[in-house]
Amino acid sequence: MEAFPVIDMEKLNGEERPMTMEMIKDACENWGFFELVNHGIPHELMDMVERLTKEHYKRCMEQRFKDMVASKGLVAAQSEVDDVDWESTFFLRHLPVSNISDVPDLQDDYRKAMKEFALKLEKLAEQLLDLLCENLGLEKGYLKKVFHGSEGPTFGTKVSNYPPCPKPNLIKGLRPHTDAGGIILLFQDDKVSGLQLLKDGQWVDVPPMPYSIVVNLGDQLEVITNGKYKSIEHRVIAQTDGNRMSIASFYNPGNDAIIYPAPELVERSEENGQEYPKFVFDDYMKLYAGLKFQAKEPRFKAIKTMEKSTVSLGGPIAFA
Ligand SMILES: [Fe+2]
Repeated sequence: MEAFPVIDMEKLNGEERPMTMEMIKDACENWGFFELVNHGIPHELMDMVERLTKEHYKRCMEQRFKDMVASKGLVAAQSEVDDVDWESTFFLRHLPVSNISDVPDLQDDYRKAMKEFALKLEKLAEQLLDLLCENLGLEKGYLKKVFHGSEGPTFGTKVSNYPPCPKPNLIKGLRPHTDAGGIILLFQDDKVSGLQLLKDGQWVDVPPMPYSIVVNLGDQLEVITNGKYKSIEHRVIAQTDGNRMSIASFYNPGNDAIIYPAPELVERSEENGQEYPKFVFDDYMKLYAGLKFQAKEPRFKAIKTMEKSTVSLGGPIAFA
């Protein structure tokens, strides 16, 4: 099997730009995932985010996780557990309006570091969307514009820890799924592995790499590209030793953004047809909330049959 795609973003500034763009294109078409190095986010900031996340887990989350495990009797499981993940999480929202000041139990330095980190990731996500536009032959800013809706994109972070699990063959850290949204940027533990993606019917490890950002494409990019790029199924295998940190940031369309295949890509596709539906992003997320761990195709089908003119606003914070 080919090596997992690693993109050196520094090379986008020199004579190796065409080759690097080609690598991104190949990764989008054949993996749905790639890993970025030299992305411009300072290592000191990443070190701080990692340290504070691990401290926060110990201080606020660990006991809560142990209580959850005890209340569900997970340690005594004798057969596969398919309704819960071996995962401790909390969510932060950055856009359209930040909720970081309201999230309980965060120390000031942690709030500040996460705000700064989110701002860098937001810029990186927007830069990536334009690189995708370039590779797709779409005008610069096209994807950002589609994501905008009336209030701008939704951007949020799911902070997860996957503590050591005594029965990783019976309980998944996170069950297989594709991500519903746009583009996802992940700062994962550089020592404790566990993230796997499904490629050609085989589970492949996403290798831990210090200071890298793992990128994957969500269902919305599959729709907008009319299937040229695909959202790829992935999962987390909890480890028997080591606590895996995972900070996933979701750059998604705004709630009322209308999502549909880019007409230029429909015209250019070999079958010359539109395979994917047109819908309001929030309607898709409401559907996803109940079907996250099921295949995406029935979701696309179900949304096709829904009322297309309904613009729904509000609802739960849904970006994961
Ligand atoms: Fe995911």
